[in-house]
This record gives sequence, structure tokens and C-alpha cells, in this order.
Amino acid sequence: MPATTPDTPDAIKDAIRLRYGTRAAVQAGQAVAVASCCGTDSSCCAERPAEGVNSFSADPYGLEQMEELPLRAVLARLGCANPTAVAALRPGEVVADLGSGGGLDALLAARRVGPAGHVYGIDMTDQMLTLAWQNAADADIGNVSFLKGDIENLPMPDRSVDVVVSNCVINLASDKRKVVAEMWRVLRHGGRLAVADVVVRGGLPTASAFADALRQDLYAWGSCVAGALSDTEYVDLLHGQGFTDTRVDILREHSAGDLFPNGLPDYAQLEAQATVEAILGRFASAVVHALKP
Ligand SMILES: C[S@@+](CC[C@H](N)C(=O)[O-])C[C@H]1O[C@@H](n2cnc3c(N)ncnc32)[C@H](O)[C@@H]1O
Repeated sequence: MPATTPDTPDAIKDAIRLRYGTRAAVQAGQAVAVASCCGTDSSCCAERPAEGVNSFSADPYGLEQMEELPLRAVLARLGCANPTAVAALRPGEVVADLGSGGGLDALLAARRVGPAGHVYGIDMTDQMLTLAWQNAADADIGNVSFLKGDIENLPMPDRSVDVVVSNCVINLASDKRKVVAEMWRVLRHGGRLAVADVVVRGGLPTASAFADALRQDLYAWGSCVAGALSDTEYVDLLHGQGFTDTRVDILREHSAGDLFPNGLPDYAQLEAQATVEAILGRFASAVVHALKP
């Protein structure tokens, strides 16, 4: 687990809601006055744009899948991989997509599980839920529901799901242990998870002023950087809950430019550039697999 987190879990959630709410509203084509996130306790503004986009995933979907869905759903993607491509979904299965955003993965999953199955997308940001419902309507997909909720407290009954997918969201959660416990609770025995996320290979160095500052940066949390678990932390958390067959497949290693496309934060000056780049070079997009026996 990251040793330190900024302020409080509420501060992290508020920053994330603001950032992704703004982004969803823009993508839904609504006229929004982009809210300023400047405040005495927030680091998410400064000179950096309120909704900078990092380039975690070059093209994890491919043309064929892109063509399956309306353009707005495709453009809404903010993930770091393509979890439905590796989840081996079968007709009739029930799927939960944690942090479903604009709904792209939920809609792709809904097509795969077919009319006998169902997909529940869960997101805490109202504007994302609105966008996802619009995208489902445009795609004429009926076997999907988008529910408002926190992935640390899923709005779903025990043992109601065959497969949990998620795309670049668990790193954003302030309490990862709760998320893992919730995935376990909602999965049926024999259920599985395929979770795309950013991980830090080998973890961040413990004696690093830059790494310490990064962990405290709310903007970097919202960018799917500061809250990332190491690969071993992921496996340990899942094993600790009782999951088996856990595997972390590294898909793409990232550069400093992937993580901070608008330039490195000021606190990068705390260490030599080569050191900072080496630390950021530990970040990668991955898919985590596990089974609930
Ligand atoms: C990086 S976006 C990924 C969206 C989507 N999975 C995709 O691949 O396009 C993160 C999403 O997770 C949602 N989110 C972040 N933390 C959450 C939490 N604790 N509970 C529910 N949703 C959360 C945000 O509202 C946002 O829609």
C-alpha cells in the first residue's frame, strides 16, 4: 500500500469527481463552465489544465471493436487497456465494471454476454453515469445498467456476479483493501476478475523526496499515477482476501511523458532528472487476473 496519501480519502474523491465530472460533461457535448479546482487544499490546478489527458493506452481496442459502438462511446475511453478482450466473457454471464466511466467496456461486455447476460457499470460521478446511459441508448444496448456507487462499497448483492472488470480505476481508490473485499463479496464462487490498471513495477523507492511528493499530489492521483499499487502489492492484497490464480500481465511500460503529458510537476526538481525519469519508468499498464475459488 502507498505509505502516505494526501489529506483525507474525501479530498481524493472530491478531486476525482470534479475532474472526471468535467471530462464527462465535455464529452457529452454539454456546455460547461469548467469548474476551477483551485483551493487552499488542492494541488490539482496550478498551471496544469483541469482535465489533462495522459496517454496510457495507444490503441488497446482495435478498429473492429471501435466500429461496434457509437463514436461518442469510443471517444469517452479513459482506460489503460482493454479488460473485456482478456476476460473471456461468455453468453449469459453477469459482469460488473468498476468505475465504468463513459461505458465503453460495459457496452463491449454487454455485447459479449448477450441478452441472457447483464452488465452493471458502477461509477460515483453523475456526469459519467449520464454519459454512459446516453452511449447505451445510442448503441441500442439494453442488457446494461449504470449504477451510482463507490467501488469501495458496491451497490450490488453478495455473490451476484460472474466476472469483475475494471479499467484504470482501482489506482484511484483511497482504500484498495475495501475494493478487493467488495470484489470478493459480489463475485460468485468460481468467479473471476480481469482488471486493467496502472502498476508500479517493484514499487516506488522509499527514500525519495520526489516519490514522497508524488504520493501527496492530488493531480497525480487523478491522473492514475500517485495511487498506483506495485505489482506485488496487488498480488498480496488479492491473495490476502482469498483469491487464487493471481497474475499481473504487464502490457505497456510508461515514460515520464505518458504520465505527465503537460510537463513534469515542479517537485520533479527535488531530484536529478535521470532519477525522476527512472522512477516514473517503473509505471506500467497491466491486466490483473484472479479467481474466487
Ligand atoms: C480513468 S476513468 C476510467 C473510466 C473507464 N473505466 C474507462 O476505461 O474509460 C476513472 C473512472 O472511475 C470513476 N471512479 C473513480 N473512483 C471511483 C470510486 N471510488 N468509485 C466509483 N467510481 C470511481 C470516475 O468517476 C471515472 O469515471
